[in-house]
Amino acid sequence: VQPKLLAGKRLLITAGPTFEPIDPVRGITNRSSGKMGFALARAAAEAGAEVTLVAGPVHLATPHGVRRIDVQTALQMHEAVLPRAAAHDIFIATAAVADWRPATMNEHKIKKDKSPDAPKSAPVFELTENPDILAAVAALPDKPFCVGFAAESQDLIKHARDKLQRKGVPLIVGNLGPATFGRDDNALVLVDADGERHLPADGQARDKLSLARELVADIARRLHA
Ligand code: C5P
Repeated sequence: VQPKLLAGKRLLITAGPTFEPIDPVRGITNRSSGKMGFALARAAAEAGAEVTLVAGPVHLATPHGVRRIDVQTALQMHEAVLPRAAAHDIFIATAAVADWRPATMNEHKIKKDKSPDAPKSAPVFELTENPDILAAVAALPDKPFCVGFAAESQDLIKHARDKLQRKGVPLIVGNLGPATFGRDDNALVLVDADGERHLPADGQARDKLSLARELVADIARRLHA
């Protein structure tokens, strides 16, 4: 039995991708499965926290004892998170939020021009930037302890350090390994103002639930320090 390291604490967490519609049948999304975020929500609930999970479109069961709010888009995720954040002790942003959304959503399906002599031209979509949810929470006067994630294809630690500054958060968790999407295992590196710590210490990939339990224990230590 795990000690209740987060008893009496309220934790808000985002997970999964977001889906940004182009028209009623198409959209922009990414390859986040939501597994790390759901594992963290489960581990935090096991540790005694009251957990609210704001989830993008994923195919995962809600962990036992976790309150779940389903959203599709980055704007909906922002709207679900911002008014709730200050009432929480911890905010963990694991969601792979789409950086951009189509500037306009077409009410009807965009059709190909099938007439034989029509000039062949593909539609061009204008994109507009989505709000940075983590940075917005970290800028609240009454902010919770904020944890961000970083998935990069190169220079992970450098980018994680950059995110600490840019988003104004005390901890960024880097996904090590090039292909963590959809997998059940992962290896992490915790980056804070003092340095880096690998989790697990040997850097070998481990299942996401045991990593999540260790990360929750680490966050609990930081919260009580
Ligand atoms: O550099 P990047 O913006 O991708 O940083 C990733 C971190 O920021 C993750 O914790 C992610 O959940 C969070 N994020 C966010 N809102 C965005 C983009 C990223 O909360 N619009």
